[in-house]
Amino acid sequence: MRPDGIVIAIDGPAGVGKSTVGKLVAARVGYRFISTGKMYRALAWQALETGVSLEDDAALDGLARALRWAFPKGAGPEADISLNGRVLALELSEESVSRASSAIARLAGVRLFMKDMQRQAGLSGGVVMEGRDIGTNVFPDAELKVYLDASPEARARRRVGQLKGQGMPADYAEILDFIIKRDAQDSGRAVNPLRKADDAHYLDSTELPREKVVDAIVGLFESLSVK
Ligand code: C5P
Repeated sequence: MRPDGIVIAIDGPAGVGKSTVGKLVAARVGYRFISTGKMYRALAWQALETGVSLEDDAALDGLARALRWAFPKGAGPEADISLNGRVLALELSEESVSRASSAIARLAGVRLFMKDMQRQAGLSGGVVMEGRDIGTNVFPDAELKVYLDASPEARARRRVGQLKGQGMPADYAEILDFIIKRDAQDSGRAVNPLRKADDAHYLDSTELPREKVVDAIVGLFESLSVK
């Protein structure tokens, strides 16, 4: 056993609600929550800021290694992410950063750097970690693995609802197209593509409200009878 509990790995496609669900699960079981997508986004943001090419694996690896990464305690179960002392938040959800993060996530050197950092962050356990390759690559030894899925249409509808709820413009067709492209990019890449680990529990949330998904994962956790 790990000193602080188990590792709960949640993988799945973009926009499926891994972060929302993961944070709720973490709060219920008293664990930390880590979004690995935010780490890719942080490096992508820094690359855009400093003009490092999104194609140059060696330069991006050098950039990642030269940065001072820190994960100070945040308001809820999720730590903040800070680079060279600057806490990044809203910057990370910009559209340009989404695209850039998906582009750099194809590169083997970048992925290796991220894997090392993510393993380090979760090794002591007591953590819910979400991403695309947590159960297959970062923590193949995770004690509980969940693959969260939903149809692209359901994910697009939810995203439209979210954006409208924030008073932002939202075009369903455009969002659906973006989701389908990101799915293809995440599942089609050569290095650590998005896929369900053989021993992951598959949860389809297309018809399932969020609370039920959270209940299902907490139920799986409790059935392991670990704390
Ligand atoms: O989950 P999120 O949309 O924030 O992730 C940003 C990008 O980082 C995704 O498009 C995906 O390509 C990449 N990613 C990844 N592996 C992870 C987490 C995210 O390749 N474990």
